[in-house]
Amino acid sequence: MDKALRKEILSTRRLSRNWPAEPHLGGWYTEEEIAVAVKTIRDSMDPVTGFGFICKEITDFEEAFARYCGTADCVSINGAGSGLDMALMCLDLQPEDEVIVPSINFRAALMAVIGQGARLVVCEVDPVTLQADPNDIERRLTPRTRAILPVHMNGLSAPMDDYLEIAERHPHPKHGPLKVIGDAARACGGGYKGTKIGKKGWMTVFSFHTMKLMTTLGEGGGITTDDPELGPRLRALRQFGGTEGWGSNYKMTKVQAAVGLVQLRRLDEMIERRRKVAQERTELLKDVEGLTLPVEPPGYWHTYYLYTCLVPKEWAGEKRDRLMALLQNEYGVNCVVANPPQHKVVPFIAKHTQGQELPLSDELGARLFCPPTHPLMTREENEYIAAAIAEGMARIREEG
Ligand SMILES: Cc1ncc(COP(=O)(O)O)c(C=O)c1O
Repeated sequence: MDKALRKEILSTRRLSRNWPAEPHLGGWYTEEEIAVAVKTIRDSMDPVTGFGFICKEITDFEEAFARYCGTADCVSINGAGSGLDMALMCLDLQPEDEVIVPSINFRAALMAVIGQGARLVVCEVDPVTLQADPNDIERRLTPRTRAILPVHMNGLSAPMDDYLEIAERHPHPKHGPLKVIGDAARACGGGYKGTKIGKKGWMTVFSFHTMKLMTTLGEGGGITTDDPELGPRLRALRQFGGTEGWGSNYKMTKVQAAVGLVQLRRLDEMIERRRKVAQERTELLKDVEGLTLPVEPPGYWHTYYLYTCLVPKEWAGEKRDRLMALLQNEYGVNCVVANPPQHKVVPFIAKHTQGQELPLSDELGARLFCPPTHPLMTREENEYIAAAIAEGMARIREEG
């Protein structure tokens, strides 16, 4: 986008919506979701039937989601936060056990490790893809490492084969190959080397929270796996322990599952629109000096949950913050830092990772910013956002 065009766009347009940096509804609903929700409520109004417990809607949703991901099983749950807790419960972690998690992340996976009483080991991410760096993971492994818990960051798959190979090469002395658990809260529907996210690894945790790529009425989640032993264990954890062992209540509701079936059927269409917005934006911004744009490596299928940008290294911190303030105050373009290193910004996590240093994550956390994106964003709005970013970058550069 040349200077004349961006000036014209900025002087003649405004955003039709005050797009939140991370929109509070990640997809959109149609009359079909509404109709199915109403029908499921009506069907539940009989005292014999009610809303529970594990009913046809739930098993249908689980089967459909497993089929979509190409996995043997899917266990529906009430959210990815509890899903990550449940995933780690399946490891029966002891206080000396270690789990490696990237710090450029949402806090949930890190909290889950602390919550299960194991030692949280944080690792660096690749500076281009922002996915957990396999080389750094290998450096941080010890004989006490039990699991690697990568996040499929901001909609792109993490390099699962690299982690699985490390997991085989560095078995735990007692438990064998390390377990690789994926956090796909932001990446439902993404692809990796001919598979859907959710297929690779011991298990993968998904979120259907309102901000995510599809949502089951605002909350919800699922865990996919090919391990035949995990389904029964997760289902017992989900519903008060089954016949033996501990459990609680992590169930998705019947109405959520019914709506989830419709959202799942529409997921690829919603992702396709996100991809179009991202591809248009990349085309518009590709020549902006010093701006690093999100990448889709060969063999990957990015869902663009967020459109993650990096300012130049020399702008880390203060200038990045000035750019974000300028975009918001002068052009109404809200941006979010998703996410800064959690071992630095969340005091509780900092307390549990004392002495662990991640210089690259510190730097990346001070360089990244995500302007809004959404499947319903129009070409005109996208052009306006791109023009504001290009103009903002030029102004910060001129300020010196
Ligand atoms: C990467 C990541 N993991 C986990 C979660 C937690 O998901 P939920 O809100 O479904 O518990 C989120 C949600 O914000 C997330 O972004």
